[in-house]
This record gives sequence, structure tokens and C-alpha cells, in this order.
Amino acid sequence: MMHDKLQSLTEKMNEAYLGGGLERIETQHKKGKLSARERVHFLLDEGSFEEIGMLVTHRCSDFGMEKQIVLGDGVITGYGTIGGRLVYVFAQDFTVFGGSLSETHAEKICKIMDMAMRNGAPVIGLNDSGGARIQEGVNSLGGYADIFYRNVVASGVVPQISAIMGPCAGGAVYSPAMTDFIIMVEETSYMFVTGPNVVKTVTNEEVTSEELGGAMTHATKSGVTHLTAANDFDCIQKIKRMLTYMPQNCEEKPPQIPFTPGDEYRPQLRDIVPASATQPYDMREVIAGIVDEDSFMEIHENYAENIVVGFAHLGGCSIGIVGNQPMSLAGVLDVNSSIKGARFVRFCDSFNIPLLVLVDVPGFLPGTDQEWNGIIVNGAKLLYAFSEATVPRVTVITRKAYGGAYDVMNSKHIGADMNFAWPTAEIAVMGAKGASEIIFRKEITSAADPQQMLLEKEKEYQEMFAHPYRAAARGFIDEVIDPIDTRRKLIKAFAMLENKVAHRPRKKHGNIPL
Ligand code: HXC
Repeated sequence: MMHDKLQSLTEKMNEAYLGGGLERIETQHKKGKLSARERVHFLLDEGSFEEIGMLVTHRCSDFGMEKQIVLGDGVITGYGTIGGRLVYVFAQDFTVFGGSLSETHAEKICKIMDMAMRNGAPVIGLNDSGGARIQEGVNSLGGYADIFYRNVVASGVVPQISAIMGPCAGGAVYSPAMTDFIIMVEETSYMFVTGPNVVKTVTNEEVTSEELGGAMTHATKSGVTHLTAANDFDCIQKIKRMLTYMPQNCEEKPPQIPFTPGDEYRPQLRDIVPASATQPYDMREVIAGIVDEDSFMEIHENYAENIVVGFAHLGGCSIGIVGNQPMSLAGVLDVNSSIKGARFVRFCDSFNIPLLVLVDVPGFLPGTDQEWNGIIVNGAKLLYAFSEATVPRVTVITRKAYGGAYDVMNSKHIGADMNFAWPTAEIAVMGAKGASEIIFRKEITSAADPQQMLLEKEKEYQEMFAHPYRAAARGFIDEVIDPIDTRRKLIKAFAMLENKVAHRPRKKHGNIPL
């Protein structure tokens, strides 16, 4: 009796394992994609996956759907561990109705999201779906909205990561958009609200899926994706790596990794900032010189390159880094870099990840393009995000900190805990040339040799302001440090701030300038 029952269970499980069948799995492989089960297998620690809802079936009886029942209904859901830590996961199975989302498919995803929130662990979504299950109509739309709602409720409670590993069209893009990080697989994934055919009809533009919403498009043009991956394996590795910097939920601190002290002095940091203030250098070299070896994971690498953001370990502790990038547009703040920086700062603050801010910024980018695209309101996002962050916040000014951008880039005045400057720092309202042209205009224009006079005034202004000592005299800079000593100072500063408590007045929530 029991034997027969077990036999029947095994048959059902075997059926569920195959999803849409071997032929469709083969098609998936031919496209260079793994199947949903393979993805879950490679993502989670060996043998740790426990499936939930394997036998769920849809309830649709329109269009002959009652005859097309596939156990699991196109999504694999459950929990397991990554590096020994609990995660909840869903993987859409493209071999079942194109991974399309039915009412029950959505219910399965909602179930694990609810569990993740109750039990305080990240949710990882492996998306590969043709969107709403067309046969189900509004039931499917309702299912999407149930997920969207949970994405928002879970936001800031547990980390949510979305991998886009196939098509992602229509309203389906909005669930990933509300999660913390998106990672797209190059050449096999795309995201758009409406596909090329609709675009052609409405705007008469001819565009391929790849151009409209491929990984590179969203990594460089729109900034929708935070990371790209060469293939499914690479995507899975990047998800695992990203999780190493994050706590399980907003109540926890990020995990610490083993760290052996002894390499605190980094001579290479003395040679990075060039003698000329107009010469660029790569802020990533400064980052590499400060953090634990090979620990920097850059986010949004190819978008708004004038700001660098990413996770790293410093003395074994997770930190989030925001740095101006002199190599791109002289590290100026503009609309896109402000939004990129603000979003990253808010993630770190949500999940107790301390912030290190590296400053070399000539100011905000002037011009009609920026003004008409709202540099005022968008720049304010970064200012707002830093100001509201209560995690430990430490700043190092490597070179320029000019104008409003000085205030914005985690200055003392907006709540930074420790502010360091290198001796090469220039903290002033603006650069010496611009400043001299304004305040010494009369002397310059009436001089026998205006060019010579400008140079003299520039030098005068430079000597007065192009250094960190005025700011240090006011206590706006806590210490001017030898670059070689930056890593040691930062490790000590973050250790000192470990138990920081910062309260804000009671409120429902703030109103970030969106
Ligand atoms: C039901 C679907 C489906 C869908 C694909 N399939 N999309 N079934 N609902 N949305 C099925 C196909 O019938 C096919 O079944 C199998 O999945 C694979 O699809 P193919 O077209 O053969 O695959 P491919 O050529 O790779 O093309 C993939 C695709 C295409 C680009 C995703 O299938 C497609 O354009 N689908 C429709 C996309 C769409 O318009 N979705 C609705 C968006 S509106 P068989 O049996 O042959 O294997 C939306 C609203 C949500 O999502 C709003 C929320 C607010």
C-alpha cells in the first residue's frame, strides 16, 4: 500500500522535475541558457534546496488550458543556503508556457516572499518569463500586483536581488525594478515595457530587442541594471558574491570575514593624485589601495561613470563606497551620477552597511541639458540620501571639494562622522581660476597685462584656499592625513563607530525629492 503511494509520489515529482519537457529544456540549452532547476542547483549550497509548491497547478480553464496542466506551474520556489546563510529563491521556468505568470505562479512567489519577510532572509528572483500568462487575463495582472506590493513591503526589510536570465517584458519589469539590485545576462536577456513591434507601431522607430532593452543598453544608457553577466554561471557567481557584503535583514549587521592585520600602510596611495589639479586619475586605484585585497565589487560600473559605487571589505568588515571619478567628466556631479549615488547610499543605509566616501569633485555640471533635466531635484537626491543615512559615515577628500558638491559629498555638516583630507585636498567655493575671474575682475581688466594679473590673483587665491587647512581649522575636517596611512585610519575610524546610534525625529517617512 505504502509502496504504491510512494510510487505515485515519485512519479509526480519526476513529472514536476521535467517542467515543460526535455525538448524544451534542450531548446533552452541551445540558447546558451541553463534550465530553471539547473540555475537553482548552481545558486544554492549543494543539497540545501527545499522546494515549496512543487505540485501547484493553475486553475485556468479557458482556451483549453484545463488540458495543459504542468506541475509547479512554471516557477520553482523554495529556500536553501548560500555560503551557509538562508535565502529564499524563485526561478521561472521558461519551458512551461514561456515562464509566463499565472495567478498560481504568482501565489507561489508571494508565499516565499512572505516567508522571507517573516524569517528575515534575502529573496533572489531568477526571472525568465514571457510576462503575464495571456490565457489568464486579469487574474495574471492581479498576480503581478500582488508581487509588486510585496516588493515594496519587503523593501528595506530583506535584500531583494533580481537576475534577468531571459525575456522580461510588460509589467514584468516592474517587480525587478522595485528590488534592490538587477543583474542581466548579456545577449540572452532583455527588459522593456513594450517590445520592438509595439515601439514600431507607436513611435515608428526600428529597434532590435537587444538595442531596446538588452543587458548593455540597461547597463550603459538607462542604468536599469546594476550588473551584467557574461552567462548564467557568471550571473549566479555575482549574486553569491554580492550577498557576502549584505546582512540577512535590516535588523542585522553585515557578516564579517576573517582578517589578519599587518598590511595597513599602503605607499602606493602617495603617488596617485597628480601634481596638476586638472590631471585625471582613477579613483578605483585609491579604492584598491585602501580596501582588503580584491574585495571591491563595483556596482553600476558602466553607468554614470563620473561616480564610482560598490561594496568592499575593510579590515574584514563590509562597507559601501561612493567616490567621485576624476577620470570621467572630471568627477563632476550630474543628474545620473547623483541618482546612482543616492540609490546606493540608501541601500547601504537600509541594511546597516557603513559608508566610505572618497571626494574629488569640481562641483555640479552646468548647462541647459542638466538644468532642464532637473539637476536641482536630482542632485538633491544625493544630498538627501547622505543626510538621512544613520550608518557610520566616513569621508576622505583626496583633492577637490568645491562648492555645493563639497556639502553634498558626505560633509561634516550633513552628518558624516569622521572627515579626513589628504594634504592635496582643495576645499573651496570654486577653483582658483573661476574664483579669481569673479572676485578680482576689476583688477584684472584694468591691469596692463590682464593675463599676468589673472595668474597672480589665481596664485593668491590658491594659496589662501586650495588646501585643507582652512576647513581643518574650523573642524570641518577632523584630520589631515598622509595618504599612506589612510587604510589604517579608516579601519580604526569604522571600528570606533561600530556601535553608532543616531536618532532622527519621529516621522512616518521622509519625502525624498523624487
Ligand atoms: C502564455 C506564453 C507567453 C505568455 C510565451 N508563451 N509567452 N504563454 N503567456 N505571455 C509560450 C509560447 O506560447 C510558447 O509555448 C512558449 O511560451 C515559448 O514561447 P516562444 O514564443 O516559442 O519563445 P521565443 O521565440 O523564445 O519568444 C519568447 C517571447 C515570446 C519573446 C517571450 O514568447 C513573446 O513575445 N511572448 C509574449 C510576450 C508578451 O506579450 N507578454 C505579455 C506582456 S503584458 P509552446 O507551447 O509553443 O512552448 C504583461 C502585462 C503585465 O506582462 C502587467 C503587469 C502590471
